[in-house]
Amino acid sequence: MQPVSYVSYSTHPTKAVEIPFSKDGRKRCRAVDDFQVYGTHKVPVGKTEMKIGYDERNIYIDVCCHEPSGVFLNSNKGKSNDVWNGNDMLEIFFGSCAPEPWQFQFAVNAAGQRFDSRGSTDDWTANMEFKEGAWSINLAFPFDLFPNSGLSIGFNLCRYAMHRKEITDWGGIDVSFHEFENFGELLFCTYEQALFAKTGRPVNRKLTRSQYERELAQASIPANVLTHGPLCSHVTEDSAVVSFGTAGNCGAYIYYRIKGMKGTRWNKMPLALRNGLVGQTEAFHRAVLKRLRPGTDYEYMPVTLAPVSDKLLKCVVGEFRTMDAGKKEFSFVFMSDIHSTASLLNAIVKSDAVAKCDFIVNAGDPLSRGNGYDTVYRGLFDPLAATGKNIVFVRGNHEQVGAYAQITCDMIAKPTGKTYFTFRQGDVLFIALDVGDDHSDTVINKNAAVIAEERRWLRRLKEQPVFREAKRRIVLMHIPPYDIEHSYAGQASAKVLGELADCDINCVLCGHIHKYFVIESGTGVRNFKLTGEKLADSAKLPFPVIANSNDTYLDVKVSDGSITSTAIDVNGKIVDIVRL
Ligand SMILES: [Fe+2]
Repeated sequence: MQPVSYVSYSTHPTKAVEIPFSKDGRKRCRAVDDFQVYGTHKVPVGKTEMKIGYDERNIYIDVCCHEPSGVFLNSNKGKSNDVWNGNDMLEIFFGSCAPEPWQFQFAVNAAGQRFDSRGSTDDWTANMEFKEGAWSINLAFPFDLFPNSGLSIGFNLCRYAMHRKEITDWGGIDVSFHEFENFGELLFCTYEQALFAKTGRPVNRKLTRSQYERELAQASIPANVLTHGPLCSHVTEDSAVVSFGTAGNCGAYIYYRIKGMKGTRWNKMPLALRNGLVGQTEAFHRAVLKRLRPGTDYEYMPVTLAPVSDKLLKCVVGEFRTMDAGKKEFSFVFMSDIHSTASLLNAIVKSDAVAKCDFIVNAGDPLSRGNGYDTVYRGLFDPLAATGKNIVFVRGNHEQVGAYAQITCDMIAKPTGKTYFTFRQGDVLFIALDVGDDHSDTVINKNAAVIAEERRWLRRLKEQPVFREAKRRIVLMHIPPYDIEHSYAGQASAKVLGELADCDINCVLCGHIHKYFVIESGTGVRNFKLTGEKLADSAKLPFPVIANSNDTYLDVKVSDGSITSTAIDVNGKIVDIVRL
């Protein structure tokens, strides 16, 4: 269970002030004067006071700029469309970077000139007045201007006192006026309600402003903190994928190098790099390492970038070993159809078989429906990442269920983007296949064209040296070639496997039915070994098919002379052994 937390993009605790509602917003206002000098965050020489309130139509911000020098610069009119012409002035910003980025910039100078980043100054008002030792400006911004940001709005106000060359702001920006990561917030609710909204944790007591700011800071997790993974997947002889998740959106690098070579510098790979720019708008990060050496141990380290400061945060070091064509013995664990059953997944990942294996095959349906990143992290990614093993993902039909299914597919994808692929370990060529959903095409599911493409790929693959010269071949897929009279999915599986009917395939490993069975070579008979039931309903193929259940996993050991698949249940009991 993850602690309740608030993802913070700020470089310091976020300021916030509860502002009151009244029928006429200016009748009840909150006074705020904790401005600071831009860059240094020191107390300014010139005091600035704001009184903020709201009614059904507007946010009201009345600003009083005390000027100890008594000198106001307001005579330079300059160009009519340029408020940055040397006069005293205010810049007012609204916006935030999460959950969706948005920002508006308004400005008004002491000569009365105005700027609006939306291109229109007609729908907000700014009334100015000069007094002894101060100038004031009363602002009113209609709610209609802003996107709905709930019960709070990101806000900052910056002041230029030009005679003294002092620039101050309320939110606490570090490097840029447009830095919405460090804006403060105006709360249209109580501090207790705001803390509940930010952290998901109900609050059963009254809070003051300072208590709210302190408790929010305590519940904050910086956006660039590693919260998921790293997970290593789809390792081949010369490549690997490393994925990880951060608390919020941030930039990231992956550092990697051959393990054990003292003094070797890290290779530093920026992620989400496009057109010379490292992307900082994603919380899921994925690195594809290429040009690696076969049979070699590598170590890697995710490195994340702090928002605003761009400071580097070095995270945990992981390792993997690239596949090795010369390997004589190895093992892998084959799991399928977990369907969010945490007890089953926990039993498998803590098994001796996983501890000793070279890699894990997750052959589909880890979740019944992937409803976004969090479900994939909890139900699949985090438990498998904890094993520290290389994970081979083979897509199942449930990875096509729901509006956010594409996120699941992207998180587990092979770098080719295809759900059918090959890799080698020892003298075995592994062929991962996919027939997509378990029903024919709909307006969402479009597998017929992919299956046709996959069959053409298989025909080409059979002609290539990597296939022809492999001594042994194991097929990994989700749906078996079962019930070919009635099942669309079984027919689709049989059709794809039919492309290999003239090949020497050692076995096909699959899942999907939630019952353990074996189809002996050339029989087309499903032998449910645990119940003794037999069904002569499957495709007759010249190689055996083993279907894993939803309460078993396969511990597959490959040696020079044999391949042995041991089916084990969640209690660790061996339920079947097949020697291939
Ligand atoms: Fe399935």
